[in-house]
Amino acid sequence: MLVTLVVPLFAALAALARAQQASSLTASIAPAATTVPVTDTDAGAELFSEESVQLTDEVVDEILGNDDIAQYADLFAFENSANVSESARRRRVRRSAKCKTSPGDLLWPSKLIWGIFDLLLGGALEPIVPIASPCYPKSEYNNYDATKCADIVTNWADGATHYENDGSMMNPLYLGLTCIEGTNTSALTTCTQGGFSSYSVHVKNVAQIQLAVNFARSLNLRLVVKNTGHDYNARSTGKHALSIWTHNMKGIQYIKNYKSATYSGPVFKLGAGVQGFELYEAADKYGVSAVAGICPTVGVAGGYVAGGGHSPLMQLFGVGSDQVVALEVVTASGRFVTATPEVNSDLYWAMLGGGGGTFGILTSAVVKVHPKVPVTVSTFNFSSAAVGADTFWTAIRFFWDEIPKYNDAKTYSYFSLMNVGGGVYTFDMFPFFATRKTVVEYEALTKPLFDKLKSLNITYDIKTTHYDTFYPAYQASFATIDFHIGSIASTPGNRIMPRENWADSALSTQTFDAVRNAVDKALLIQMYHQAPAPQAAVLNSVNPAFRNEAGMLVAINLILDTSPAGLKAGNEQLTNGILGPIREVTPKGGAYGNEGDISEPGWQQAYWGANYERLLSVKRKWDPVELFYVHHGVGSEGWVVEDGERGVQTQDGRLCRV
Ligand SMILES: Cc1cc2nc3c(=O)[nH]c(=O)nc-3n(C[C@H](O)[C@H](O)[C@H](O)COP(=O)(O)OP(=O)(O)OC[C@H]3O[C@@H](n4cnc5c(N)ncnc54)[C@H](O)[C@@H]3O)c2cc1C
Ligand SMILES: *[C@@H]1O[C@H](CO)[C@@H](O)[C@H](O)[C@H]1NC(C)=O
Ligand SMILES: *[C@@H]1O[C@H](CO)[C@@H](O)[C@H](O)[C@H]1NC(C)=O
Ligand SMILES: *[C@@H]1O[C@H](CO)[C@@H](O)[C@H](O)[C@H]1NC(C)=O
Ligand SMILES: *[C@@H]1O[C@H](CO)[C@@H](O)[C@H](O)[C@H]1NC(C)=O
Repeated sequence: MLVTLVVPLFAALAALARAQQASSLTASIAPAATTVPVTDTDAGAELFSEESVQLTDEVVDEILGNDDIAQYADLFAFENSANVSESARRRRVRRSAKCKTSPGDLLWPSKLIWGIFDLLLGGALEPIVPIASPCYPKSEYNNYDATKCADIVTNWADGATHYENDGSMMNPLYLGLTCIEGTNTSALTTCTQGGFSSYSVHVKNVAQIQLAVNFARSLNLRLVVKNTGHDYNARSTGKHALSIWTHNMKGIQYIKNYKSATYSGPVFKLGAGVQGFELYEAADKYGVSAVAGICPTVGVAGGYVAGGGHSPLMQLFGVGSDQVVALEVVTASGRFVTATPEVNSDLYWAMLGGGGGTFGILTSAVVKVHPKVPVTVSTFNFSSAAVGADTFWTAIRFFWDEIPKYNDAKTYSYFSLMNVGGGVYTFDMFPFFATRKTVVEYEALTKPLFDKLKSLNITYDIKTTHYDTFYPAYQASFATIDFHIGSIASTPGNRIMPRENWADSALSTQTFDAVRNAVDKALLIQMYHQAPAPQAAVLNSVNPAFRNEAGMLVAINLILDTSPAGLKAGNEQLTNGILGPIREVTPKGGAYGNEGDISEPGWQQAYWGANYERLLSVKRKWDPVELFYVHHGVGSEGWVVEDGERGVQTQDGRLCRV
């Protein structure tokens, strides 16, 4: 059996090697793409020009008809192309192999095949080189450069360093602690590929995504999608993977009078690579508001809308996924399809909430936009230093009990609680985001809190400013936060906390005690008071826990020891010591998969609740060959990254069936 599978491949290889010697190959392989009409979509918004450049049956037939590469041509054919060869059909048997293809395996592409792939892509394929490799005098990359290294070290905490690179992750822990940045080279030991993907397709059009999907599926390669690399669990990388890099798909189009069966009004059509700050700028330019996250550089139409998406405007308009009225998608079969509430509605439902990198590759999303929103922004802080811990916690309890009122007033906030040592606690509100409130209205809403602080003799610093529109309010507040990009010294986890935890006084006290325990044990607790605006009809698979939310708590645990034992103990402390008691008092809550604990227990229930079963059936329908895998993604139960036990699950290992 093995022999019949392998021989045609080797025969073809030999033929190709001859063809290459004749150096006719480059001349005979043109980019595999054709241009379809931009109106060729059911999304109600024309395709971007990069989306109109596609791989079609006709183009596949042209590849199949190219004598120089005929024997390899079927690597690029669709799952259901009519004309593929018998060897291609047999190769499909390989998909039941225990592991995805790695270097050294028979199906791993030779240099020549990577070369043909690159020619068909029009030169968009790049080997991924670990970003900090210029810091290593002796590495396999042979690219030591002290000046470049100094630049990388200086800019390491800047998001752009990572989102402008095709392989880098903002949380590098899961790359396997290889090739860490640093100028003190005597402290640096190894720089290897680790959990970095192998090759990246620098996508400029849809045809390239389709080719990459077909190529990966045909050869049983691991396939990942990287947009910005913000993923908390490094789900946008994978050892030995072919990576599709969507960052440069930057189209933004404003459509004033969009109309579909479920929505009429203004929209933006966004390319997969558009980031929060770009959407916010565009919205400001057109005098409207749009929904994105607090971090300016998160990709909007990437992981954010795929996983839910909380926002400083969610209390008015719903979560990120609720904004999307239509999607364009490359599916696991290699086909380009539209998904809306009417067309491919199951895919539409699953891709909005069911998580990134799981159901297909989104190339653009049509999102609702909203009227201008005036905002009062207020930052304030106080500590227990002068008044003692008991008084401090009395104040925090008062604030805690006010949260339902703040949600009813349709406001949002982001604050932190920290045990700074020596029995001292700090509270930092940065900021209270009082949408559609004047300063007077905001002050009335928060008067009981500040009266309470005064009665407790707690002194606080406060700054309150009103803005006529969202953009300057955002620029003055969230945009300036230091998000600690690139650190390996901590692991985060979260809990979506339901309203009922405030409604019942006994439960409220238990909840507060669990939060206080978390503050005592964690490096930092960050929290949002937030409640998404109810939707007339929920058409997506966003975690139902969000619909009943009063706040989300994010716990960050300090990791001092990055040995496997240290990481295991540190993460165990996060999962159980810090978040365990909170999970216990919030049985009807859930967790936000986009900001998930790498070890979230019962993640199917925590991230998707009652939606999980249907998500799994949609996954099986649209990705029957299990092309897409992400850690703790829908349908990932059958797979494991064999990383040899690092204490936490890294991406530095082969992806194999359990
Ligand atoms: C500093 C920081 C601040 C954050 N702030 C917020 C916030 O305010 N609100 C909020 O809701 N979340 C926030 N997040 C979480 C954020 O929403 C997720 O990390 C999100 O998944 C990032 O998406 P991305 O496309 O930018 O990142 P990536 O890491 O590139 O991708 C994330 C996941 O989506 C997949 N993916 C990306 N693009 C596509 C595509 N086109 N098609 C299919 N799959 C795709 C990837 O494969 C990966 O699994 C924050 C994260 C960080 C690190
Ligand atoms: C593919 O199949 C169609 C239909 O059977 C046929 O018309 C076409 O010539 C074939 N193309 C190639 C390249 O074999
Ligand atoms: C460099 O790293 C080594 C090994 O960790 C350490 O002993 C040394 O003090 C460091 N030097 C500087 C200048 O930080
Ligand atoms: C508020 O925070 C600032 C900046 O960290 C700090 O200097 C100040 O002392 C804090 N104010 C109070 C009252 O805690
Ligand atoms: C606050 O300070 C005032 C005056 O210094 C004092 O009378 C009062 O008892 C204090 N209140 C509390 C709650 O400590």
